[in-house]
Amino acid sequence: MKLNKSEFPSELFLPLLQEEKIPRYIALFKALRQSIIEGKMIAGAKLPASRPLAQSLKLSRNTVKSAFELLLAEGYIETRPGSGSFVTHSAAIAFPRADETPSSRSFKAEKKLSKLAERLNWQDHHTIPYAKYLLEPAIPALAEFPWMQWQRAVNYAGRVMKHQLVSSGLGCAQLREQIASYLQIVRGVKCHSNNILIFSGSQQAIYLSLQMLLNPGEGVFVEDPCYFGIEGAVNAVGANKILIESDEQGFNLSPDKQYLAKLAVVTPSRNYPLGHTLSLQRRLALLQWAADQGGWIIEDDYDSEFRFDGPPLTSLQGLDTEQRVIYSGTFSRILHPSIRIGYLVLPDQLVRPFTLAKQLMQGDVSILPQLTLAQFMAAGHFSSHVRRMRKLYLSRRNLLQQLVEQHLSGYLQLVPSDGGMHCVYLLAAGFSDEVICRRARELGVGVKALSHYYSSENKRQGLVIGFAGFNQQQQQRAIMALASVFSDC
Ligand SMILES: Cc1ncc(COP(=O)(O)O)c(C=O)c1O
Repeated sequence: MKLNKSEFPSELFLPLLQEEKIPRYIALFKALRQSIIEGKMIAGAKLPASRPLAQSLKLSRNTVKSAFELLLAEGYIETRPGSGSFVTHSAAIAFPRADETPSSRSFKAEKKLSKLAERLNWQDHHTIPYAKYLLEPAIPALAEFPWMQWQRAVNYAGRVMKHQLVSSGLGCAQLREQIASYLQIVRGVKCHSNNILIFSGSQQAIYLSLQMLLNPGEGVFVEDPCYFGIEGAVNAVGANKILIESDEQGFNLSPDKQYLAKLAVVTPSRNYPLGHTLSLQRRLALLQWAADQGGWIIEDDYDSEFRFDGPPLTSLQGLDTEQRVIYSGTFSRILHPSIRIGYLVLPDQLVRPFTLAKQLMQGDVSILPQLTLAQFMAAGHFSSHVRRMRKLYLSRRNLLQQLVEQHLSGYLQLVPSDGGMHCVYLLAAGFSDEVICRRARELGVGVKALSHYYSSENKRQGLVIGFAGFNQQQQQRAIMALASVFSDC
């Protein structure tokens, strides 16, 4: 029997057949199976007879027969007495055809996704490689992390872990106690360790809160501009996003909008990314709204440890007398991005439903990193690292502002802020922040476009420039690169 090349591209099998470590009949079986999986051999396609195939591939006939037997046993082919071997329908149905393009396949797959998955498909900011570019925002000083002390805490946690295999559902008790006493002293948060629920980062915590507090279509107040992760999570739950402008005094909720939402997500200590602090008057107004409407407030307190003009401000939660505030904190920015531990401080009535939901949807956070962090805090390393980083970040911020002043003053105007890990600059008229950022990225500089953080049409053009993770040489190199981008525009 003659080999039909178009139906049976034997040259495709050669690389596999040359694999030395596996028997040849297995290599041929895998090659044939691959052809079926990739749709190169469609349902009903006839396989060549064993003799001509063996001749054409320079194999023994027994090798080919053994490969066919395996295909038959796994249901990829069937034999019809007197006619030969054919690709089965079930094999061909299970796998797509080769002439379907990947995009037509993914389109079909998308059609089968849930509404939630469709809503998640909103933008791809999170696929950008982390810490790859200079001046990227939200990168702490990675080289300064006290690895030795962390290692000691890991060793300790490894030793005591055998007594801690069962979690209460809220998270490791030692860690919750450390967090509670830290928050009471430093952030003025009113809490008991039993109100703290540990998560793998605050993104997860905030997303679960939105799922628990909002039905699709219900209103939620969101700052404009705001953090991508919050906007994405709000979109994902299908809530009705009501944008609230953030000005110099922070989140500005006007009386006419008060009835539109049951939840507000805010960054009162430092608006992300603009850096404004929510004024006392507006804090009290927001708490009043929550008390009057039975509304909830999620306070996303992502990096308020790094305030340079004085100690961290009292949290919004600390002012709340009605238990309407859910306080969210994270260690990923303060310590290291790979320490994926965040937490919620919950009002009493939310502890049980949130804990049950977390168990069902996400399960426990691994105990070893929780115990490690608890020990790291108990030994005083957390506080001393924060103190050290506060000084370092202040000097890095001053350096950035000097460099911008020297090399970019005609193009950029600083938005004042009392701390943080990045600065925001507004762009001079006539420049597009997207264009600047795209060109800067080509030169290895990862500043972000301010306009991307806005959902409304009222987008301001500016740059979000991270300084915390970058030393003098890196900042100088990056600012010179940015200057060249501006002069070429
Ligand atoms: C404003 C804001 N909220 C929440 C998060 C999420 O933090 P985590 O890394 O703990 O998920 C971030 C992370 O950068 C952030 O910038």
